[in-house]
Amino acid sequence: MPSADDMKKAAAEAALEYINSGDIVGVGTGSTANYFIDLLGRIKGRIDGAVASSEASAKLLRGHGIEVMELNNVGDLPLYVDGADEATQHGYLIKGGGGALTREKIVAQASEKFVCIADDSKLVDVLGDFPLPVEVIPMARSLVARYLVDLGGQPEYRVGFVTDNGNIILDVRNMRIVDPKDLETRLNQMPGVVTNGLFAHRGADVMLFGGASGVEKIEV
Ligand code: A5P
Repeated sequence: MPSADDMKKAAAEAALEYINSGDIVGVGTGSTANYFIDLLGRIKGRIDGAVASSEASAKLLRGHGIEVMELNNVGDLPLYVDGADEATQHGYLIKGGGGALTREKIVAQASEKFVCIADDSKLVDVLGDFPLPVEVIPMARSLVARYLVDLGGQPEYRVGFVTDNGNIILDVRNMRIVDPKDLETRLNQMPGVVTNGLFAHRGADVMLFGGASGVEKIEV
């Protein structure tokens, strides 16, 4: 039985086939994305550069000698590859366990194709067992927390964590998310919320799940 790390690596490797020569690749954040970054290092001659969804990923990419570009300077991207904390077979995701959700959402939105890579423990029927991260402007922390309680959630302040954008994270438990698009919209309209970790309006186009018997591909 392969380990979870082996499954993440296998999913990351399967994503390489979506790269075309000369691409500028959108790169996600997290342990699975890190495996993808390592693999990108090996084929870096085939790509023109990368746009990173976090300072951490940018540093790793540069460490492999890959040029990290500003999204503002390159326009739309052909491909974004990133992990997920939970995923449904419809391509709806919870992301942001690593706190990079806002930049991840920006790069995903700018990309023609979003390939999600994960081990198959991330595949669920209904989102919400994993606490939903919400990035919040610091002065709105209590206001937004009360709103999240009104929605039925149990928000928890991620103590000691500051996002790359200088904001805080509330992780929301007790959400059984049966309509991810609706909840994503409702959270986004609350003043003080920068982004929430639901990727439903712009979910994954392709999901590659590493499992005991290889990589399963789901095209949405
Ligand atoms: C980072 O903010 C997250 O969205 C990650 O992409 C997600 O948490 C998946 O991380 P792992 O690959 O480490 O499970």
